[in-house]
Formats: sequence, C-alpha cells, structure tokens
Amino acid sequence: MVKTLIVFGTRYGATHRSSEVIAKTLKEEFNHEIELVKLSSETENIDFSSFDNIIVGTSVAMFSWTKRAKKFLKNDFSGKKLFVFISSAALTYAALEKGEMDKYEKNKKRFLDNVVKKNANIEPTSTAVFGGWIRKGNTEEFSLFNWKEEDMVKWAKEIGKLTG
Ligand SMILES: Cc1cc2nc3c(=O)[nH]c(=O)nc-3n(C[C@H](O)[C@H](O)[C@H](O)COP(=O)(O)O)c2cc1C
Repeated sequence: MVKTLIVFGTRYGATHRSSEVIAKTLKEEFNHEIELVKLSSETENIDFSSFDNIIVGTSVAMFSWTKRAKKFLKNDFSGKKLFVFISSAALTYAALEKGEMDKYEKNKKRFLDNVVKKNANIEPTSTAVFGGWIRKGNTEEFSLFNWKEEDMVKWAKEIGKLTG
C-alpha cells in the first residue's frame, strides 16, 4: 500500500480543510494509507521514514509561510516524492481567479517556487496554489472566501496518478 504523509501549518483553518480533502481523495480513490499531521509544538520530530510521499501544506499570511511548515521543508526527503501546496487567498489565488496571470506567476514564484527551492533538498513532483478565507473580525462573515474543494480534489487525483 502506498503510504502518504500530509503535514500542514494553518492560522485560520483553510489549510486544514484542504489537507482533509486531499487525504480523503487519496484514501478513497487511490487506496493510500494516510497520516495527517497538523504542525504544532508537539510535532517537532516527525518520523517520516516509512512514507513514500510527503505532502506539505501551508497558510500564506502576512507574506509568509507558517514557520513550522518552512522548518519541516528543510528535512531530507531523498528517495521520496514531495508535494507542496500553499493557501494564498489574497495575493496568489485571487490573481488567478481574476485572470491576472502576470501577478499570479510573480506571486506563485515568490510564495511557493522560491521558498521550495531555497528550503527543500529535492524538487517537488507537483505543487499547487489554493484559496482560503478572511473572516470579518470574529464573525461568521467573510471579506474574502475563495476556498474551493474541487481544486484540492483535482490536485489529489493528479497526485494519485503520479504515485500509483
Ligand atoms: C492577517 C491576514 C494576513 C494575510 N496575508 C496574506 C498574504 O500576505 N498573502 C496572501 O495570499 N493571503 C493573505 N491572507 C489570506 C490567507 O491566505 C487566508 O486567510 C488563508 O485562508 C490562510 O490559510 P489558513 O486559513 O490555513 O491559515 C491573509 C489573511 C489574514 C487574515
């Protein structure tokens, strides 16, 4: 059975939900054995040696990754397949939605490609940019909501095909 570890850093919850959708799709449609880990002070030394695939997801807010996701990316992933996604609702994904492709490419490079290049010791097999949300204060209302489940399902299916 293919073993896949999904680790994620989140501030407002979107990356958690995205990770759950990816986990469900890989489990149900590709029979992957999945472990899903929310990065925290208790997940400093994750033993990922038994996993074939590593998926790292992070929230992008205030122009940066969560510090724990960035730290996790510095591990030695030699011999494994690495997949990386970001939830960049306001800058990167919003530009994609508006068809502002120059802005999208520029921000994807800044917040995804360059961070991976600088921190990971292997090239990712595939990467993705997802949306998320910004709440209005502590209410249930949103000033921005562009999280779309179908984006994660689509990427998880791509991962499933690349790891079969
Ligand atoms: C205070 C704040 C700062 C943010 N800064 C950025 C940013 O710099 N770039 C971006 O693309 N999105 C930004 N966002 C939107 C986040 O990408 C969005 O909230 C996303 O859902 C974050 O992922 P998370 O829910 O997993 O924490 C920001 C949101 C908040 C509330």
